[in-house]
Parts: sequence; structure tokens; C-alpha cells
Amino acid sequence: MRIGIPAETNAGEKRVATVPEVVEKLIKLGFAVAVESGAGDAANCNDDAYRAAGAEIIDGAAKLWAESDIVFKVAVPTRAEVELMREGGVLIGFIWPAQNPELMQQLAAKKATVLAIDALPRQLSRAQKMDALTSQAGVAGYRAVIEAANAFGRFFNGQITAAGKVPPAKVFIAGAGVAGLAAIGTAAGLGAIVRANDTRAEVADQVKSLGGEFVKVEYEEEGSGGGGYAKVMSEGFQQAQREMYAKQAREVDIIITTALIPGKPAPRLITAGMVQSMKPGSVIVDMAAERGGNCELTVPGEAVVKHGVTIVGYTDLNSRLAKQSSTLYGTNLFRLAEELCKTKDGVINVNMEDDAIRGLTVIKDGEITWPAPPLQMPAPVAKPAAKPAAPAGHGAAAAPASAGKIALLFIAAALLFLLIGAYAPAAFLGHFTVFVLACFVGYMVVWNVTPALHTPLMSVTNAISSIIAIGALVQIAPPTLLGLDRPDGWILGLAVAGIALTAVNMFGGFAVTKRMLSMFRK
Ligand code: NAI
Repeated sequence: MRIGIPAETNAGEKRVATVPEVVEKLIKLGFAVAVESGAGDAANCNDDAYRAAGAEIIDGAAKLWAESDIVFKVAVPTRAEVELMREGGVLIGFIWPAQNPELMQQLAAKKATVLAIDALPRQLSRAQKMDALTSQAGVAGYRAVIEAANAFGRFFNGQITAAGKVPPAKVFIAGAGVAGLAAIGTAAGLGAIVRANDTRAEVADQVKSLGGEFVKVEYEEEGSGGGGYAKVMSEGFQQAQREMYAKQAREVDIIITTALIPGKPAPRLITAGMVQSMKPGSVIVDMAAERGGNCELTVPGEAVVKHGVTIVGYTDLNSRLAKQSSTLYGTNLFRLAEELCKTKDGVINVNMEDDAIRGLTVIKDGEITWPAPPLQMPAPVAKPAAKPAAPAGHGAAAAPASAGKIALLFIAAALLFLLIGAYAPAAFLGHFTVFVLACFVGYMVVWNVTPALHTPLMSVTNAISSIIAIGALVQIAPPTLLGLDRPDGWILGLAVAGIALTAVNMFGGFAVTKRMLSMFRK
């Protein structure tokens, strides 16, 4: 089948649905790829690069749409674009079916099959590689910091120079979703002091792990609305949040807002009064500008100065990093193509039995299949202590059976040990007892540690294993101390080298464990 990549027609859209590096991979999957001439120009991908990757360059959108079995697009298609689509064709890209019912009808009338990348069931871990919302929000969060740095008149990092001391910039991030976390990491990387807030308390550790400080609203309310998204908070919470945000606005130099609640206008978090209270030269980047804005004074699509504060409301942050956004988006679509074409023969199979594909498919052969039925996610694995009681009857029979099995195992093990004890040499018996006890203690320790802590556990175990240093210490100890003969010079040398190496292992192991554990600490 032939995949067509048209030039994006929305004003200011610089992204393109695939890049030359990805074209090569699509061709390896068995597809032919056609790109409209000039489609990648604004994303630094020219026709020659596509041609070199194996794509055919087609002049004009009409020809491209008409000759493509599958069309990859970025922005929601316009009416005019859908008219160019061939009957029964396949379209993959952003659709937002809830917001665009007319477009859905138009596509259905074309007997199209449409996969909306925005409808991907993001909760499936298998779907992460296709998650264009995440890849694009990550780029936008990074760019928001760059826009802030551009409009801000100072360094982000603190510096002590001969010309004087420069304090670090203070950045406050409202909303720590994908875009917010990317912004935290970028601002912290530039050396700023970063604080962040979110209504979902569970993101506090992620904020900290990226170098930010989580600022809590002093009001107890659960902020999670399910599926990893937020919900509209109570009036009491909003009041407490406004007070905290007002305090932050007075203190910080830069605010980046990313707060969003699915299906609702963006929550108003920064009032005109808060903007007025900020220091002159401060910057606000309102990433939610397109959805109504988190700041009262935002003008969508523009950067304006109000009360001496620059308020950036750009809605094209991804286009401002067009090459990066297009590369990640193209890779997301390639991963989707892999799922659709498992046979690697360039023919897709829209398998409605597959949860991820079912979620994405909003129209199948002209029939609207959106919204997909809710996903049947497996229940979270209960901790052993929280296991529900087995139903009466069945459980009553099962418990003695398993207890009986354990008793049998114990008897068998005891008999084995008796045999070993009766016939094995005494020296072996001592070592064997230590080995059995070590297995038991190891089992008890590892199995009682939360799986998330297994990596730090491994590094601490590594550090503890340096106990072998004792052997080397015995070798270099003064002979009078242990009543041993002084070993040869070369043994002494080896022992000293052993101690030096094992010290690195020991102290390094403990240092790494401490750093890892601090990521989990509240
Ligand atoms: P997301 O839904 O993953 O994250 C939004 C975060 O805001 C969530 O963590 C949520 O808990 C939090 N939040 C919701 N209400 C809040 C409140 N009242 N107070 C504090 N936090 C609150 O969204 P994602 O993917 O991180 O995107 C963030 C925003 O960036 C969205 O508005 C999105 O439309 C926008 N965006 C803008 C672009 C542009 O060019 N301007 C490009 C890409 C994304």
C-alpha cells in the first residue's frame, strides 16, 4: 500500500507527518511512500532528503491525496482536504472526534477508515510508543521554557562574576502533566530554582526527581479524575490554591502554566491581580492558551506585555521546534504502522480485536466506531496482605490442602538435611548451614521489599558484598595481631589493591543507593 504525506495547510503549521529517517523504516515494512513536494521544507526536511530515503515526490495536494491508500497527517484535516481524499481511503492523524462532529460525518461519507492518534488508549503500556500526545506535549514543554528564557532579561542560573552576583531565576510550573514535567526538567537543567504544583498529589515525586520542589495546596482533596487526568476541584480547594498561587506570583520570575482538565475549558489559575503583583520583567508562558488559557490576561497566539509582565500565549509551540516534533510524531506513526502491518508486507489490517487499534479507530469503512467501549483493564495486583478472602466452601477446602503441601515439603527438607548431616564431612556441614541460612535471610529480605525498591536494593547489596575486603584486611594486618605469618610482598600488594577497589565498590554502592532512595522519599 502507498502512504501519502501531504503538506500541512493550517496557517503556521510547520510540522510534517513523517521525516526521511522514518520513510526508510516504512519502506522496510513493505510500504511505498509518497511525499507532497515541499511538505517538509519548514521542518528542515527537503524533497531531496525524502527522495534519498526512497520516497516519491509528488507535485500538488490533489494528486497526492488521490494516489495514496493511506494518508498520514498532523493537524486535523480541513473540509477541502477531505474532499481530495480517495473513497475508502485510510487517514491517520489528529482528529479530536468529540470536537469535530461535522468532520466525522464528512469522513464517514467518504467510506474512509480513520485512526485518530488523539483517541489512543494511553493507559495501555503497549500504546506508549504510539503516544503522539505525550511526544508533542514533551516538546512543547521544553519549548515553553525556551520561550520564557527568550523573553526574560536575565540568566536562569545563578552566577558569581567579577561584575557582580546574579541570583538564579525562580520558575513556577502550574500543572505537572507531560508538558509540565518536561518544562521542570528543562528549567532545572538551565539552572533555575523550580517549583511546581498540580492537583494530583501523586506527581510530587516525579517533580522532585526532575529537580523541582512540589508546592502543596493546604487543602485536603483528592485531585485525580481517573485515567491519570485531573478533575474540577471544589470551590474551597480553588480558594486555597488561589492564595498559594498569589504568593508564588509575588516571589517568582517566570510562571509556566500547563493545567488542563479533559473535556473542560482550562482552569483559570492566574488572575489579573496576580500578574500585576509580579516583578517587572517577569514572564508567563500560558501553554493552555488554545483551551481558554490558565491566565486571565493571555491573548491566544500572541506574546503581550501587561503590567510589565510578558505573557506568551503561543499555540504553535510544536511548530517552533518543527524538526524535533515531526521526528517524534513520525516515529509514533511508524510504531502504529508496525502494529497495523505485523506481516511486514505493506498491507495493513485494522484489527478491531486489538485494544489499542480499537481505541484509535474512530471510523471503520465509513461506519463511525467512536467512542470505543471502555477498556477492561486488569485489576491492580493486590499486595499479599490485602488479598480478598477466598469464597467460603472452596476456600475452606483449599487452605488445608496448601497447608498440607507445605508440611510435606518441610518433612522432605528435614529428612534431606538429616541424610546430609549423617554422611557429609564436618567442614561441609558448617558451610552448608551458613548457605541455607543465607538463602533464608536473602529470601525474607528481598520478598518483603516493594518491587519499586529492587534497584536500590541491588546497589546496596553490591555495596555490602564488599565485605570480602575483610580477607584482604586480614592479609595486611600486623602479624602479631592475628598470630599469623607475614605474607609475601606480592600478596600484600594484591591485598592493598583489593582493598582500594572494593572501597570504591562499597562507598560508591552506598552513595548510589542513597541517591536512588532520595528519589522515593516524600
Ligand atoms: P495533561 O493533561 O497531561 O496535564 C495537565 C496537568 O495539569 C495534569 O497533570 C493535571 O493534573 C494538571 N491540572 C489540571 N487542573 C489543575 C489545576 N487546577 N491546578 C493545577 N494543576 C492542574 O496535559 P499535557 O499533555 O501535559 O499538556 C498540558 C497543556 O499544554 C495542555 O493544555 C495542552 O493543550 C497544552 N499544549 C500546548 C501546546 C502549545 O503549542 N501551546 C502544545 C502541546 C500541548
